[in-house]
Amino acid sequence: MTERTNRTGMAIASLHGVEKTYGTGAAMVRALRGVDLDIRGGELMVLLGPSGSGKTTLLNIVGGIEPATSGRVTVGGADIASLDDAARTEYRRTSVGFVFQFFNLIPTLTALENVQLIAELVGGGEPGRSELVLRAVGLSDRMHHFPGALSGGEQQRVAIARALVKEPPLLLCDEPTGSLDLETGRRVLALLRSLASNDGRTIVIVTHNSAIAAIADRVVTMGSGQVTDLAANPAPAAAETLEW
Ligand SMILES: Nc1ncnc2c1ncn2[C@@H]1O[C@H](COP(=O)(O)OP(=O)(O)O)[C@@H](O)[C@H]1O
Ligand SMILES: [Mg+2]
Repeated sequence: MTERTNRTGMAIASLHGVEKTYGTGAAMVRALRGVDLDIRGGELMVLLGPSGSGKTTLLNIVGGIEPATSGRVTVGGADIASLDDAARTEYRRTSVGFVFQFFNLIPTLTALENVQLIAELVGGGEPGRSELVLRAVGLSDRMHHFPGALSGGEQQRVAIARALVKEPPLLLCDEPTGSLDLETGRRVLALLRSLASNDGRTIVIVTHNSAIAAIADRVVTMGSGQVTDLAANPAPAAAETLEW
């Protein structure tokens, strides 16, 4: 416990006064209304809030998928807003791993090929690395299966392997258990918890499910585009004990 806490350290991403508006005039939506937040290296952060509170918008801004309207976002010391298109693409490709609710695997490629495709896109990596990462997420005997032949939980673990093969400093997960049953969801969360605790990965999980907050090192609660609460959790629960 102490070891893990000690590894949870300096801010690797910071948001200052971040605002995001969509549309104009009567159709204008203020999705983020002045968010200040640090994401610390090695922590598992759960970003909790009801539908429409701005969680996905926040995650996409940190991940370089969309720009903030105003405010400052720095990741690893670099100001995301100042990156040109090419640099932002490079940032998305190498610095962040994304995991989504609906896995987004390519159905005509096997689990291994889905992971290898990304490994090749980011510059190869050593041979055997994709296999290694798939083994690490518990899929040694499923590598040559196509997504359609895998359970939802297995598909999500392929998606996690695909994100991890890039060795990203930040793993961003948007409702990663949103389409999984309880038991499978617990297993995916146990994997994410272990990646933070045992491998020192920095992970943000976005969810509307308050039960998931129990496994976090820190819980950020959002409401109407603002951070309404931030709580440290010195003794995160094991994912296997969650109920919802
Ligand atoms: N591309 C978009 N165009 C217009 N409005 C959007 C867009 N994306 C999100 N919004 C609005 O911004 C607000 C926050 O959305 P979102 O970040 O998806 O919330 P959450 O992930 O917490 O459900 C919502 O009111 C949503 O309708
Ligand atoms: Mg969302």
